[in-house]
Amino acid sequence: MIKFIIQIFKRFAWFKRFNAKVTYELLAKHIPAEDWHFMNYGYTPNSNEPVLDISDDPKVQKYSLQMYHYLASKADLQGKNVLEVGSGRGGGARHVASFFKPASYIGLDIAASAVELANKIHQVPGLKFIEGSAEKIPLADNSIDVVLNVESCHGYGCVDTFLKEVKRVLKPGGKLLMVDFRNSPENMAIFQGQIKNSGLHQLSQEDITPNVVQSIEAEDASKKERIQKLIPARWQKLFNEFAGVVGSRFYETLKNGTRPYYRFVLVKN
Ligand SMILES: C[S@@+](CC[C@H](N)C(=O)[O-])C[C@H]1O[C@@H](n2cnc3c(N)ncnc32)[C@H](O)[C@@H]1O
Repeated sequence: MIKFIIQIFKRFAWFKRFNAKVTYELLAKHIPAEDWHFMNYGYTPNSNEPVLDISDDPKVQKYSLQMYHYLASKADLQGKNVLEVGSGRGGGARHVASFFKPASYIGLDIAASAVELANKIHQVPGLKFIEGSAEKIPLADNSIDVVLNVESCHGYGCVDTFLKEVKRVLKPGGKLLMVDFRNSPENMAIFQGQIKNSGLHQLSQEDITPNVVQSIEAEDASKKERIQKLIPARWQKLFNEFAGVVGSRFYETLKNGTRPYYRFVLVKN
């Protein structure tokens, strides 16, 4: 019944904003574990993508890090001004800022506690995290070379407004690199329509659902172990769903194709 009511409310922009803010504020506040750096479902590279040598230590969230790595590889970031919208606990920002050497990297997130945590645990030259909304980006027009957006915009009140804001802050020639899912093929088609109408030019789009499914399966054991360690017993069932472990509805719908997950590269002409 509660789930049904939430689904109805999720049709309202104000509720989506409220839901995202409250959920991620609580997560960072109540689970401040300094070795939990990511909140995306992970990515296993295609055979034509160069192998990234990462530690097999289960504490390193290898697949979530790969989601960032292979997305960031879609643009030249060296010496550039990069903005990430929805930077969460900051692990992706830390990897991209260290590996790809942009001049500056700003991680923007609506959850103040996530921003505070990320600033505390990730210190890389040129990297900082600030609080703010994807729908009202607190940066000047034409000031950013590349915007990254990882599994975040499904929770925004208005995706059209977000895309308009990205277009405003990007310099001409600047790129938006984005990955996200939608909870049905119809909603993915709506998202693709929003992208088409954004005034940004699409360079590529890829269905990466199989890559995400593969990574969920590969890290299932270590993810379940982390949930058991970090999450109080009474919340573990709910959290397994949120984390998309094997057997969750999230995982099953990705696997059966009813929850598509895409990667987009867009440019401001
Ligand atoms: C699923 S998490 C992904 C976090 C991070 N990108 C990662 O992959 O680890 C979604 C993030 O988007 C942020 N977010 C949601 N709505 C937002 C908004 N309107 N403006 C900025 N950030 C937002 C949330 O606070 C959360 O940190």
